[in-house]
Amino acid sequence: MTTTPSRTNLPVAQWFDPQEAMVDPYPQYERLREVGPVVYAPAVARVLVTTHEAVKEAEHHPEIFSSYSETNLTMMRAIGARPMLRKDDPEHATERQAINPTLRPRAIKNLWSPKFKETVEKWLDYLIEKGPADADINVDFAAPVASQNLIDLLGFPESVGVEDMSRWSIDFIAGTGNLLDDQEIWRRCDQSREEVDEILDDLLPRLRKQPDGSITSHLLEVGLPEESVRANAKLTISGGMNEPQHMISNMVWALSKHPQQRDLLLDGSAQWNHAFEETVRWQSPIGMIPREVAADTEFFGVHLEQGTNVGLLLASANRDSQAFVDPDTYDIRRAAGGHLGFGSGVHLCAGKLAAKNAIAEHALPRLYERLPNLELDPVRQPKWHGWVFRGLTTLPVTW
Ligand code: HEM
Repeated sequence: MTTTPSRTNLPVAQWFDPQEAMVDPYPQYERLREVGPVVYAPAVARVLVTTHEAVKEAEHHPEIFSSYSETNLTMMRAIGARPMLRKDDPEHATERQAINPTLRPRAIKNLWSPKFKETVEKWLDYLIEKGPADADINVDFAAPVASQNLIDLLGFPESVGVEDMSRWSIDFIAGTGNLLDDQEIWRRCDQSREEVDEILDDLLPRLRKQPDGSITSHLLEVGLPEESVRANAKLTISGGMNEPQHMISNMVWALSKHPQQRDLLLDGSAQWNHAFEETVRWQSPIGMIPREVAADTEFFGVHLEQGTNVGLLLASANRDSQAFVDPDTYDIRRAAGGHLGFGSGVHLCAGKLAAKNAIAEHALPRLYERLPNLELDPVRQPKWHGWVFRGLTTLPVTW
């Protein structure tokens, strides 16, 4: 049973407004941090953990801040079974260890980096053909690149197009967030799940006979039940597309707003890797991750009861002045390494190194090499959306 927290010593942010957070969440995050590290927000019926220190502490105590819930079941409904992200160790660890080898530096260098490179060139050709009057980085470059990379990482066949992967990912994410039980969202989600299952019906027997280096193949190799293989392939679809897509667009937006920093990258006096980490910190694609309190606890002076719904505000932690000097300033020269944009602890993003390679080694450097005069379109305006998952939905550019 999910419990409403007892309010004895828990600060309450009656004013927290998720609609306002959709427009720009950062002013409200600052206010929340001023109230305290642990604050109840009635509008989202969650206890929000707001500071860098408190978020990190919670992430490193999964025995208290559990990823397992019997009440928040939308993700399971969306993808058909419980994936690793909604389990605790030791069950989580078995599934996580299965996919780790394919996302480690050696596999990235030998297997994925050459593919990512090829994909970037193909979609740069497409973007350039679209032309400086119509091009949209998010739609014409970031989305297809993120989508094709995911098709390759999962070992899906060539018959799967970038639009298919993109649609599945959007539908699974919408299902995971479908707290109001919108039937149309479930209809689209079910349709996408059937389409992915059809692909897996062909793929799994083939990979059993002929394993390859893909995520799906590694999930099979360790002997997980087929239900878990399917659930984790679908988890990767929902988590592995949106964020890299947002990161490509967010980086172009951030560098266009800070042309002097872009020039440091272009003349080689700053590193793309650092710009990547700083962008994840400054405009975190995942703003909040859910947890549930597994046992009554005292946390930063506040009593939390078992069953309390918690939101760890990664994006707020990444703007905490106790952790970063001048945190609202975008500065690719800072050491942003301690940010929490990929989470921390046992659920630390499995695709972090793959995303970094795809974006900081290939997508962004090649984009600016081929389009050195790239800038935001002065007429067609960019649009941001979301706070739990936040990114640009359109980023018109010209050159
Ligand atoms: C810049 C891009 C990305 C960002 C910002 C990001 C962020 C995150 C975060 C914050 C988590 C932790 C969620 C939690 O603890 O509740 C996570 C987990 C995960 N991510 Fe990513 N992610 C990115 C790219 C990717 C990619 C490309 C893949 C797949 C190839 C991927 C696969 C996963 C998986 C499988 C998990 C679950 C790990 C576990 O439960 O142990 N992510 N990601």
